[in-house]
Amino acid sequence: MAEGKVHIFDTTLRDGEQVPGCKLNTNEKLELALQLEELGVDIIEAGFPISSPGDFESVSQISKAIKNATVCGLSRAVQKDIEVAAQALKYAVRPRIHTGIGTSDFHIKSKFNSTREDILQRAIQCVKWARNFTDDVEFYAEDAGRTDNDYLAQVIEAVIKAGATVVNIPDTTGYCLPYQYGEKIAYLVNNVSNIDKAIISCHCHNDLGLATANSIAGVISGARQIECTINGLGERAGNTSLEEVVMIIKQHKHLGLHTNINAKQLNPLSRIVSDTMRMPVQPNKAIVGSNAFSHSSGIHQDGFLKDALTYEIINPEEVGADSSKIVLTARSGRSALAYRFQKLGFQFDRNDVDVLYNEFLRVADSKKEVEDGDLQTMGKQHQTNAVVA
Ligand code: KIV
Ligand code: ZN
Repeated sequence: MAEGKVHIFDTTLRDGEQVPGCKLNTNEKLELALQLEELGVDIIEAGFPISSPGDFESVSQISKAIKNATVCGLSRAVQKDIEVAAQALKYAVRPRIHTGIGTSDFHIKSKFNSTREDILQRAIQCVKWARNFTDDVEFYAEDAGRTDNDYLAQVIEAVIKAGATVVNIPDTTGYCLPYQYGEKIAYLVNNVSNIDKAIISCHCHNDLGLATANSIAGVISGARQIECTINGLGERAGNTSLEEVVMIIKQHKHLGLHTNINAKQLNPLSRIVSDTMRMPVQPNKAIVGSNAFSHSSGIHQDGFLKDALTYEIINPEEVGADSSKIVLTARSGRSALAYRFQKLGFQFDRNDVDVLYNEFLRVADSKKEVEDGDLQTMGKQHQTNAVVA
């Protein structure tokens, strides 16, 4: 079985940037690439060099600036694509060419009007072309999620023989269930004779909301690279979310896996990516959403205030988030109300809080959230009433 290090392959600047409205210019891409290196990602997929002169320039600039991470450029199984990718990666300390072709019958028949044998030969050929430029060649079997396992194993064995050092098994359409994706990876581990010569990579899309679960199933079965993006950005419903897989691996130590990611930078970088790409993060997004560490119902608040571990499995500091919030709504309880008054400097005993709670519910029913200003008004009024009485 492979060692426990899971390589984090960030594709925010390639698959993430394909999202309508998220396009970045070269300076923005360069700035984000430097931040990703700081975060500790192992591989930065910087772009698709043949797709436009701007993307070529971005990959080239990132190649010059990045010193520790591997810089990767995407290509199709086309000689010209590979040559242009190699050119853009010329200055990289650690260049990787990512090349490949669709292997499912949907792709073979509908997209290429071809045969399995022809696609197999094209797969071998593109890896050989890429190996003329670098020793680090990653092959992707597009739509591997819907590719017949026997044929996929045959392709993967052949491309490793041709020189691929990483084999990417994308669930391009986000179709697989976690157990199916896990079994697919296990099938390759058990049926590809030279699989020990390559790292297996998971590249999962989120069309059914399963990208993270599928990637984790993949590494449990022996894959050792996850392709992911900050905030889960990517084509359609997105890619596997970097922050989610990193924290799952960190939380579940019994898996015997680890990454090189500095988790404290997850929230700051999430905000930078969101601002740069002008793509808001949904409030209930795991790890980086604004509600990820907010507690609003009375039952949860009471437990949380007694011991944070009752309702939080991650300390927000660990992922660079603001401290946990006790939000006051009409579903909140007395403990939360007392806590918030105390934070504002009011010293109320149990009887005071009982009285104030009725007033609080009246206000809370009339608005979505009761804020500090409302509490100040209520608290001062209660003090005045007490003096008059
Ligand atoms: O989703 C996919 O299959 C891809 C490949 C180009 C790796 O993004
Ligand atoms: Zn993709």
